[in-house]
Amino acid sequence: MSDVVLSVESLAKTFRKPFTGKKVEAVRGVSFEVKRGETFGFLGPNGAGKTTTIKMLTGLIAPTGGKATILGEVAPSPEAMGKVGFLPENPYVYPYLTPREFVSLCGRLNGMSGATLAKKVEEVVERVGIAYAMDRPVRNLSKGMLQRTGFAAALVHSPELLILDEPMSGLDPVGRKEVRDLIIEEANAGRTVFFSSHILSDVEMLCDRVCILRKGEVVAAGAIEELVGADMRRSEITLVDVPDDTTELEGVAEKATRLGKKLVLEVQGDDGMKMVLERALAGGVRIESVVPKRETLEDIFVRKAL
Ligand SMILES: Nc1ncnc2c1ncn2[C@@H]1O[C@H](COP(=O)(O)OP(=O)(O)OP(=O)(O)O)[C@@H](O)[C@H]1O
Ligand SMILES: [Mg+2]
Repeated sequence: MSDVVLSVESLAKTFRKPFTGKKVEAVRGVSFEVKRGETFGFLGPNGAGKTTTIKMLTGLIAPTGGKATILGEVAPSPEAMGKVGFLPENPYVYPYLTPREFVSLCGRLNGMSGATLAKKVEEVVERVGIAYAMDRPVRNLSKGMLQRTGFAAALVHSPELLILDEPMSGLDPVGRKEVRDLIIEEANAGRTVFFSSHILSDVEMLCDRVCILRKGEVVAAGAIEELVGADMRRSEITLVDVPDDTTELEGVAEKATRLGKKLVLEVQGDDGMKMVLERALAGGVRIESVVPKRETLEDIFVRKAL
């Protein structure tokens, strides 16, 4: 069995604006692979092209270039989609249906029926924590409950791959943690999970690998550990009793913050650190501390994606 669950090759989408006919290149040749059992984070600022990519993977819009395969089947063919559970960015649930009815409907659309379906619906609705609201019309449910109804619908046919567009957005901290726990449980159960998010701390906690998108292009991809370690080490140097003119010291730093008589400098790599320390020593400036800093996913995101 192939190790690759989702393969995306040079996927592209150009929209044409109505009336003006102006082109919007939302996705410009995006390629990445998600392997079996991985939890993969799809990151990027607003408008980077995450939802557009996910819509192409799930057949909501057609690509203008490239292709994607899911477990070897061309996406979004029925064969491929039968193996996918999808939670859209703003799941639409028919307001007059109850979670039980909506999740059953999604199960039937995936070829399930009878007692097997009824049992599975109860199981997944319970799993996402809304069993108590199973028979209430969806229009009376909160945003978090709607999100969970959508999650249950994505799980009902036991898909091999879960595609989730911003699964934690719009939820309160408790709801976010619960959705995070659901993702962890699914991953532990061996499911492959592909999700987009802005919440970098969640991504850092959940994902094995990530891909960062910027203006429709991949600007960084790989294991979080690799991305964090790939760039040179950074350090924060705090100097005390600095002279009024610190232009020379600041020249080497990426970031300089003056706090009264103190100057905090952030430098890249060993060379940057050495240069600041040499200049400080030569100028008789006291060195209070040199603290090595490990990059976080947020640092990488800010540097690469914005
Ligand atoms: N139907 C459309 N017609 C024209 N332009 C569109 C359409 N859908 C998306 N776009 C444009 O494509 C770009 C990418 O949008 P997309 O929704 O994929 O971003 P995103 O990464 O999901 O952002 P967010 O984090 O805000 O959800 C944006 O510039 C958006 O305005
Ligand atoms: Mg989006």
